[in-house]
Amino acid sequence: MRPGPSGIAFINKMKSMTSPNMQAVESNYLSLAQILEHNTPTDGWIIYRNYVYDVTPYLMYHPGGTDCFIPLLGTDITETCQKIHNWVNIEFSIKKLVIGKVAVKEVTVSSEKRNPFGK
Ligand code: HEM
Repeated sequence: MRPGPSGIAFINKMKSMTSPNMQAVESNYLSLAQILEHNTPTDGWIIYRNYVYDVTPYLMYHPGGTDCFIPLLGTDITETCQKIHNWVNIEFSIKKLVIGKVAVKEVTVSSEKRNPFGK
């Protein structure tokens, strides 16, 4: 742990923040390339379980500090969080920072096209 504001302080701070419009969030599909551009402490996004969060306001409240966090901005931190602190409820801790979802192209491949032996 490091000195300074705590994770609990951020949960308190979130009370005064406006709640995201979840309908808008659910339809705001962001590409991996787009997310990766937001990789600085003054403009930092992360992916957690397929949702995209702008964690810029959270960084200074993270109990584990910013050193390990900053290099991961713009990326998917789901696995890292599971490894480091799977007891932390990430979704609850940063729920007001959610901005969108990861865009996944839905591709269907016809079984006919995949079958190398033809019809
Ligand atoms: C938004 C995402 C995250 C949230 C909400 C979060 C939240 C927390 C919380 C609540 C703690 C204190 C846990 C405890 O005392 O039991 C903690 C500790 C810690 N976090 Fe995170 N974390 C996040 C992302 C990350 C990332 C990306 C890393 C970097 C790899 C990381 C590394 C750590 C470390 C190393 C500690 C332990 C600090 C210590 O005990 O000295 N966290 N985090």
